[in-house]
Amino acid sequence: MKGWSLKDTKGFKGAESRGPTADLVIAIDGPSGVGKTTVAKLVAERLGLRAVSTGALYRAVALHFLRRGLNPEDLDEVREGLGNLEIWQEYTDGHIRTFLNGEDVTEELDTVEVSDMASRVAAIKEVREFLLDVQRRLAEGGAVVEGRDIGTVVLPDADVKFFLDATTGERAKRRYEQLRAEGEDISYEDALRDVKERDIRDSAREVAPLKRAADAIYIDTTHMTVEEVVNRILKILKEVVP
Ligand code: DC
Repeated sequence: MKGWSLKDTKGFKGAESRGPTADLVIAIDGPSGVGKTTVAKLVAERLGLRAVSTGALYRAVALHFLRRGLNPEDLDEVREGLGNLEIWQEYTDGHIRTFLNGEDVTEELDTVEVSDMASRVAAIKEVREFLLDVQRRLAEGGAVVEGRDIGTVVLPDADVKFFLDATTGERAKRRYEQLRAEGEDISYEDALRDVKERDIRDSAREVAPLKRAADAIYIDTTHMTVEEVVNRILKILKEVVP
């Protein structure tokens, strides 16, 4: 069976390369574990655009708070944490690399500790405002940007918006398989708990909760492979982009 792993993604059909898509801005939103980053990277690659993972930006802020021992519930500490902070992302050869004050921290962002802190800092208005500008600069000149509030808040004028969804059980399975493939010792039950907790936090927060934009194209990926999702998106883009 084909899983949700980048290893299984060769042989796409019907894709464009560079050209008229050069400055296209594509938003991909959806809940945790649905496979947004995987899909965004592949779509970007096929279209010759930059891929942006906004979750990794929140994770980089979280890592900064953890390293400095800052409490995200204390506004003075939040302001201290955001002062002189520089977060950036590069997309080269199909890889997204995230930088914290110039240091490449990509390999440190996928831990449970950073994940927990990321969902706490993501609920803070000041952090979201700080990253708004970073995200918009990253999208300049064309990009495939994935996150939770890209089509609603960050890039409401994006050329095409997608909302990827899947059942909680399927998303937990994908998360479990991804972490196992990366060598993490995690059980399916842990992955399920993680996805459920993040769903609650992402949807229940007051600032920019996970919400589908009215003009987003909804794709239920529960029974689809990565290839099918990417091909569906490329097909839709061919139809809707003049
Ligand atoms: O997609 P991810 O799991 O890497 O995201 C990390 C956290 O950041 C997660 O709690 C959701 C939050 N996030 C957000 O609030 N808005 C975004 N645009 C992207 C991520």
